[in-house]
Amino acid sequence: MPLQIIVGTQWGDEGKGRIVDWFAANSDIVARYNGGDNAGHSVTVGSKLFKLHLIPSGIIHPKPVAVLGNGMVINPRSLIDEIDMLTKLGVEVNPARLRISYAAHLITPAHQALDKALEMVRGKGNIGTTGRGIGPAYTDKASRRGLRVADLMSVNLVDHLSTLIDEANQQLNLLGAPYINPMTVIDDFQKYREVMLPYIADTSMELAVAIAAGQRILAEGAQGTLLDLDHGTYPFVTSSSTVAPGVFTGLGIGMTAASGAEVTGVCKAFQTRVGSGPFPTEVFDDLALRLRGTGANPWDEYGTTTGRARRVGWLDGVLLRYAARINGLTELVITKLDILSGFETLKLCVAYRQGEKTISDLSFGPSDLEGYEPVYEEFPGWAEDVSGIRKWSELPRAAKGYLSAITKLTGVPVRLVSVGPEREQIVNAE
Ligand code: IMP
Repeated sequence: MPLQIIVGTQWGDEGKGRIVDWFAANSDIVARYNGGDNAGHSVTVGSKLFKLHLIPSGIIHPKPVAVLGNGMVINPRSLIDEIDMLTKLGVEVNPARLRISYAAHLITPAHQALDKALEMVRGKGNIGTTGRGIGPAYTDKASRRGLRVADLMSVNLVDHLSTLIDEANQQLNLLGAPYINPMTVIDDFQKYREVMLPYIADTSMELAVAIAAGQRILAEGAQGTLLDLDHGTYPFVTSSSTVAPGVFTGLGIGMTAASGAEVTGVCKAFQTRVGSGPFPTEVFDDLALRLRGTGANPWDEYGTTTGRARRVGWLDGVLLRYAARINGLTELVITKLDILSGFETLKLCVAYRQGEKTISDLSFGPSDLEGYEPVYEEFPGWAEDVSGIRKWSELPRAAKGYLSAITKLTGVPVRLVSVGPEREQIVNAE
């Protein structure tokens, strides 16, 4: 099995970073295929907390090569800051260990300014974006005028950048937003180019060679299935293909690599969402505080990228079954089971009710979830602190009951369960 795909099954923030970290130890390459620095992955190793936005968390291990695929949009400033942060924390980052696709797109300050200005104009109907310029950068890509990583090698870089910034300024002017100084951007990009040039590669070709040689490739998705541009809760989505099939275009690898691939869906033991959009199982007040945490711990439910408090709720099994189908999941990893310790009763949404009708599968995808009432099945909770457990057989009976209900609902076996933020706080179902 040369290819394993790690994908979020919810609205992002499922804890994919630490699960990638877990599987990365046995991988040759860890490759990201979508999104940009809107993502935030936290991995705790001993006393060190790594907060990554662009570089796959596999880089923390000594062996794997990290790849930023062509499906990504890269903010060079964030990338360089992240390289510096990793270096300071003792992780070796060099062009042999980090490969950046020449065909990935670059985010400029104009994209960030447009993202924020467009959100202002949307007012109450805003998407709640991370403000990182993701949507405008993918818009430029789709309108075939975007700036690609390969353009850093071109003599036309300055002209291309000035045209882009001029066009963005016209739009910013119409939106009543401040003007971006093209000279500052050009100066900064000249510096970024010097740092980034040695890392630029034909990563599609390098991955093909690695696959042919039988190397193990771990493909890391950012955000989650319900934020996918095509299959998520549109329009409250991100602008990239977050689902497992996005791996093939986002990394430029052929479909034959799909044969025998493991597709691992990472799912939090409850539901969270940042930004606007429907959330049928959302809870509020004391219950919400219990699931979210107060923010005192780094693993509490506050955004790694924006610091925003996440909306929280009970696990939505209808949406999870949908994610299992869209991604073709072969296994599930359930994270943050420890947070459910101490609840007398747990709820799992198994269907929706709309008026007189009860539905267990969505007729037209998850975009239009307004007016759907969750139908819950209740499960006994457990009082025990599970954070020290490493063996499946030692999990409380009620916890195993809740996990088997998830498998029964989705038809996908649970392979791993995380019971705390530390690297080794994982229970293997095998
Ligand atoms: P954008 O990706 O910044 O355009 O934001 C679009 C939507 O996706 C917003 O609701 C964001 O909150 C959400 N989003 C983007 N990246 C992440 C992530 O890594 N985790 C959770 N939500 C995200």
